Amino acid sequence: MCIHLVPQRIYQRRALKYRLPNAMLLLRHCPRLTWVGLLKTQSVLCRLQLRPGAASLLPACARWGSGGGGTRDSGPHIHAQAPGWGHLLAGLLAGTGAVLAYGLHRNQVEQAATTVQPVGATPAFPVYTQEEVSKHRTLADGMWVTYKGEVYDITDFVALHPGGSKILLAAGGALEPFWAMYAVHNQEHVLEILNEYKVGKLCPEDCKKQVVSSDPYSSDPPRHPALRVNSQKPFNAEPPSLILSENYITPTAFFFKRNHLPVPKVDPAAYRLEIEGLPNGPVSLSLDELKTRFPKHTVTATLQCAGNRRSEMNRVKQVKGLDWGIAAISNATWAGARLRDVLLAAGYVPGGTVRHVQFEGLDKDVAGTTYGASIPLRKAVSEEGDVLLAYEMNGEELPADHGFPVRAVVPGTVGARNVKWLGKIVLSEEESSSHWQQNDYKGFSPCTDWDTVDFKSAPAIQELPVQSAITQPEEGSVVDRSLEEVTVKGYAWSGGGREVVRVDVSLDGGQTWQVAQLRGASEEGQEDAPSPPLGQAWAWKLWELTVPLPEDAQELEIVCKAVDNGYNMQPDSVAPIWNLRGVLSNAWHRVRVTVSED
Ligand code: HEM
Repeated sequence: MCIHLVPQRIYQRRALKYRLPNAMLLLRHCPRLTWVGLLKTQSVLCRLQLRPGAASLLPACARWGSGGGGTRDSGPHIHAQAPGWGHLLAGLLAGTGAVLAYGLHRNQVEQAATTVQPVGATPAFPVYTQEEVSKHRTLADGMWVTYKGEVYDITDFVALHPGGSKILLAAGGALEPFWAMYAVHNQEHVLEILNEYKVGKLCPEDCKKQVVSSDPYSSDPPRHPALRVNSQKPFNAEPPSLILSENYITPTAFFFKRNHLPVPKVDPAAYRLEIEGLPNGPVSLSLDELKTRFPKHTVTATLQCAGNRRSEMNRVKQVKGLDWGIAAISNATWAGARLRDVLLAAGYVPGGTVRHVQFEGLDKDVAGTTYGASIPLRKAVSEEGDVLLAYEMNGEELPADHGFPVRAVVPGTVGARNVKWLGKIVLSEEESSSHWQQNDYKGFSPCTDWDTVDFKSAPAIQELPVQSAITQPEEGSVVDRSLEEVTVKGYAWSGGGREVVRVDVSLDGGQTWQVAQLRGASEEGQEDAPSPPLGQAWAWKLWELTVPLPEDAQELEIVCKAVDNGYNMQPDSVAPIWNLRGVLSNAWHRVRVTVSED
């Protein structure tokens, strides 16, 4: 039987009291979350001030600020006067709020630690049944969740949640199955935030009934330990950058991996590719049909994540996203049926109202939402577009991490549209409605922040801008003067099939330049090869330059920049192209090395 030990309203007041430090906790603990920046925090604080009962925040803060005593639920303090609040608010608005509130929070934690508690007295929380928790499923009724036998009222956290409205899926139920999917929550700071919202305990009978959720990533394939992992679940990793310039074709094991969800297990015998939006109704193809009914077409194409080199943007100002280095880019030979051939055979007739080709993956989240993206119809059906429904990578069956059994390969187009584990194609007047097409993978001005961003105002990224980076020597390495020269290596690529025609390299931060030698697309990638047809330069160029070490130089700032056949060049610095999502990071790449005199 479940007994309510303490009146619920005390816990609601307690939760309210903790909302200020909670916003600050986000700032303090989520370095990637500048979008929950100070402005936002201030607006949240202002909003909280307007909520009925929020006045209790003011004295709470004032008390912590003045070093007064009191425990978390010592009621009388909640209604105390707050003479210092005006100053506190002014401090917040002056931009010192995060620091100040962090100090307050710490102060409060320290006080809690020094408060004398009777031996054996643990704060008594009310006990709720699952049925009671389930009644709190809306913001109006209060949004409650359970986690490891505890009950939390997260109503006021919903608007602050870094993962957006997905949090609503857990309303009235357990967090465990969702957090198993979004493993980003397995961090101390997340639990610390959650703890601020605790209002009770789940009764033991219901705790026992909760299904132990299995790890949705448990069947992800094994990966090479040399990969630099940016996120384990979902798996996102890049190879050591040195490997990139050693191989014109990136070995499959080292090809960067960018997953949004668990890798789906697909039975090739049961696999069907569904095609919808055709004039004569839907078509469904087996893997075998895809392989035998259409000519096998082979394309060597570089894929690059929109967030490649995001870490350089992070150095200017924090952005939201995985902290990719320079190796979220790789080159492979892909083979499969041309999308154009498949669509025409399925009954697509040019000239209708279709404008976009949508791709849906078989990778799903807990709510059954699949990964999705779309490309313009023009690219999908163009003879020169070379869009593939690929079933081979580097001469072998597609590996699980790269979309087994079939993926879209859209040469010249951002990695996000090269949908893996392809399950469905939809011809449509509209772009894909998926989160990743509508509210992600878009570029904005440096002046746009998470409070002002309007994702509808920017086009979805398709072709990527010209790019290059130095893979050797690496940042911070030491060049031996006795060698008398230094070899600089790297990659260069441009989106939309535009060919890289030149790479310039500087050893003095961009004051003087020399032209690097481009290594063409021959079999080995070592010799010059004829240019690809105009507009079909899908693969990168590796490049290198060996130059004498400048006399007397103790440090070198090595810089590279590429030029494509549209004479597009990379911008010289990151700050003017900084954007809140950290995409399209293609400024001159700079590497600082020391020259050793020994
Ligand atoms: C009270 C419960 C929750 C809390 C306290 C919470 C907290 C957080 C925090 C702090 C982050 C940022 C982590 C980081 O980047 O270091 C985050 C991200 C995220 N959360 Fe939650 N979360 C909660 C519930 C949920 C639920 C139920 C879902 C899904 C159904 C969810 C989906 C996500 C997603 C998708 C992200 C990642 C966003 C990204 O990578 O850009 N969260 N959450």
